Amino acid sequence: MFDPVEIRKHFPIYERFQRENIVYLDNAATTQKPKEVIDAIVNYYENSNSNVHRGVYRIGEEATDLYNKSRENIAGFTGGKPEGTIFVRNATEALNLAANSLTRMIGKKFEVLVSRMEHHSNIVPWQIASDTFGIRLKMMESNIDRPLSWGDIERNITKDTRIVSLTHVSNLLGTINDLREIGKNLHERGIYFIVDAAQSVPHMPVNFRDLNCDLMAFSGHKMLGPSGIGVLQGTPEILEDMPPYMGGGEMIKEVFEDHFIAADIPEKFEAGTPNIEGAIGLSAAVNFLKNLRMESIRQHEKDLIAYTLEKEDELNIPSLISYGPRDPEVRGGIYSFNMRKNVESERPFGNEVHPHDISHLADRIEGVEVRSGHHCAMPQTVSLGVYATARASFYIYNTREDVDHLFDAIEKIGKRMIK
Ligand SMILES: Cc1ncc(COP(=O)(O)O)c(C=O)c1O
Repeated sequence: MFDPVEIRKHFPIYERFQRENIVYLDNAATTQKPKEVIDAIVNYYENSNSNVHRGVYRIGEEATDLYNKSRENIAGFTGGKPEGTIFVRNATEALNLAANSLTRMIGKKFEVLVSRMEHHSNIVPWQIASDTFGIRLKMMESNIDRPLSWGDIERNITKDTRIVSLTHVSNLLGTINDLREIGKNLHERGIYFIVDAAQSVPHMPVNFRDLNCDLMAFSGHKMLGPSGIGVLQGTPEILEDMPPYMGGGEMIKEVFEDHFIAADIPEKFEAGTPNIEGAIGLSAAVNFLKNLRMESIRQHEKDLIAYTLEKEDELNIPSLISYGPRDPEVRGGIYSFNMRKNVESERPFGNEVHPHDISHLADRIEGVEVRSGHHCAMPQTVSLGVYATARASFYIYNTREDVDHLFDAIEKIGKRMIK
């Protein structure tokens, strides 16, 4: 049985949360770390610390073995191949690598299509590629109440489109996009498909091959792992053709005075000493998630978001506005909302309690920790008619009681701030 209260016992920080009555609901930003992950990192430093792929002495071989086995484990978790699993700092670095290297590989002017639902890390790298290499970036509108469909993409691709890059799950609205059909149709048209899986890999079963994509990005810290480690997963075919992104040690076979020969994948994309303890910690996080089963995690979060939306309907708080699909089948555990100061006024901008005030007060009044701001998704936030929202986001250790505390906080803030 999936039991969030039992799961909490693995998280040392929950001792503090219990002492101080903290309800942590900012998991889309980052997740807490179980003891298993912390121990794996400490154990590596206490017993096997060495650089990898260098020394042929005992500890060096042990560290290399731990690093390689971590890669195999993480690759298998999302259905990819070890050589197609590149370690980077985070999803942001993965998407920068993809945008830069793939654009140089294609080598001529073309169009790249993204949606308005994207996190800045799937927008700005393309804007930089556009400034640097002259490609055209097109951002298509996305409906705030439903997932993207193949029809949306079909209407927006042109004969010049060579890349489509989309988020799997919106970090602002929680929308789950069904990307399989989109990927299949793009491949039939010879268009490369990139998936930002930062908000899906931690929360549901994700299989790289099922998505029919070429490249996929995710971050370790959003899935119980340490910060500073993330993954760009790709088909070996595309990664072999893509030029290196950064130069230095580890990523070469040979270096001459005027040129170099790149290493094979994955090392070709891993210049310099890697984040060894990060890979080991992320592998321990993957084991923790595998033990819980990704299907059960998705089911648990679906239950929490369904409960949240039902409770919102039931309480019918006049000042509260929330965003995103209402169907839990296409909605992850993310709840973005605002509170109107003057419930009589329809004026969208300037009529909200500032989400920073909501975040501050929710913590002070009820110990509820939610994020506020544009959540690095400004185009989508502004499309809601606001500059910022408050956002609660759930994970494996959250309960229906946590949702009750969230609404207690919202009701209390309403009484204090709303006319
Ligand atoms: C959908 C999405 N993509 C990308 C990122 C970037 O992740 P990171 O900051 O770990 O690189 C985030 C982070 O919130 C996200 O939610």
